[in-house]
Amino acid sequence: MVDMFVLFLSSLLLASAPVLADPVPLVMWHGMGDTCCFPFSMGALMKLVEKQVPGIYVQSIEIGNSISDDELNGFFMGAEKQIDIVCKNLSANPKLQQGFNVIGFSQGGQFLRGLVQQCPNVTVRNLISVGGQHQGVYGFPRCIGTNVTLCNEMRRLLNIGAYNKLVQDILVQAQYWHDPLNEDEYKKKCVFLPDLNQENTYNPNYKLRLLTLKNLILVKFLEDEMVQPRESEWFGFYKPGQAVETYTLFDSDLYKNDLLGLKTLNDTGRLHFLGAPFDHLKFTEQWFIDNLIPFINVQFDEDEKKRD
Ligand SMILES: *[C@@H]1O[C@H](CO)[C@@H](O)[C@H](O)[C@H]1NC(C)=O
Ligand SMILES: *[C@@H]1O[C@H](CO)[C@@H](O)[C@H](O)[C@H]1NC(C)=O
Ligand SMILES: *[C@@H]1O[C@H](CO)[C@@H](O)[C@H](O)[C@H]1NC(C)=O
Ligand SMILES: *[C@@H]1O[C@H](CO)[C@@H](O)[C@H](O)[C@H]1NC(C)=O
Repeated sequence: MVDMFVLFLSSLLLASAPVLADPVPLVMWHGMGDTCCFPFSMGALMKLVEKQVPGIYVQSIEIGNSISDDELNGFFMGAEKQIDIVCKNLSANPKLQQGFNVIGFSQGGQFLRGLVQQCPNVTVRNLISVGGQHQGVYGFPRCIGTNVTLCNEMRRLLNIGAYNKLVQDILVQAQYWHDPLNEDEYKKKCVFLPDLNQENTYNPNYKLRLLTLKNLILVKFLEDEMVQPRESEWFGFYKPGQAVETYTLFDSDLYKNDLLGLKTLNDTGRLHFLGAPFDHLKFTEQWFIDNLIPFINVQFDEDEKKRD
């Protein structure tokens, strides 16, 4: 009787176990001024992915209990806190236990890198950063949020001083504000990005965790008029002391000393630099399908099935 029951159970389990063609789930993180679910942005993209990759599970991250909270938190909830919330949320989702791919838009790109580096409770496979600012920004000539009030408040706070303690506490954009004329102040007082980039203390786990990625895909918008400098989207930035000339990732100590594993990722063919011929986030559906869907339309492979 018991045997029969076990047999019955195991056949049930087999039936529900992922088959070879199971697509790896996708988690999306929206940018500043956007939300998880606006039908014209993340909502539309989610539909596009579901159409391109039949059967895929997609979660679009929402910070807070409503779309308006989500939009507000994209400005006024600290990056570390957001990452912590997302870490808890994703690690509690049974659908994501076997690992998943992530795609972050604009600041969502650096936040997802933060998630990979700081949250051992999830297994991220491909990390796609679409216009993320991995060396920060030194200018937002345009704010693309739907709510002008929020953009104006951000500007007001940045004008008070990005490295002012109070501003650091309340404005997430200040936490990746990178002033090349004040590199020391940036390293000492900016609370999020310098830590993530190993600028002060070296955290070996950050490198170990980033190296668990199968691929790191960095999309730079070649005609970006919003992020200054756009080189930040490929880990480049202004050379210290001025804001005209830029350096590339390959020129940096971060790369040469392999502090984050980026050199290892490149040497093993896992670091991908994509140039998108558009303004910030203004990619076409076809560009997305041709360039990013190949990193999203991936199936769990045979080895991983055996581990289940
Ligand atoms: C995770 O967030 C989603 C909304 O984005 C929510 O529906 C879900 O209940 C959250 N899960 C946990 C465990 O907090
Ligand atoms: C991650 O998992 C560990 C061990 O299960 C747990 O103690 C910790 O609270 C988790 N962290 C988060 C952010 O969920
Ligand atoms: C913009 O955000 C402010 C602050 O949260 C809010 O008071 C206002 O109603 C919002 N405006 C719109 C058009 O959503
Ligand atoms: C990074 O990888 C690419 C492709 O494998 C290679 O052509 C390039 O030389 C590498 N860059 C450096 C600085 O090693």
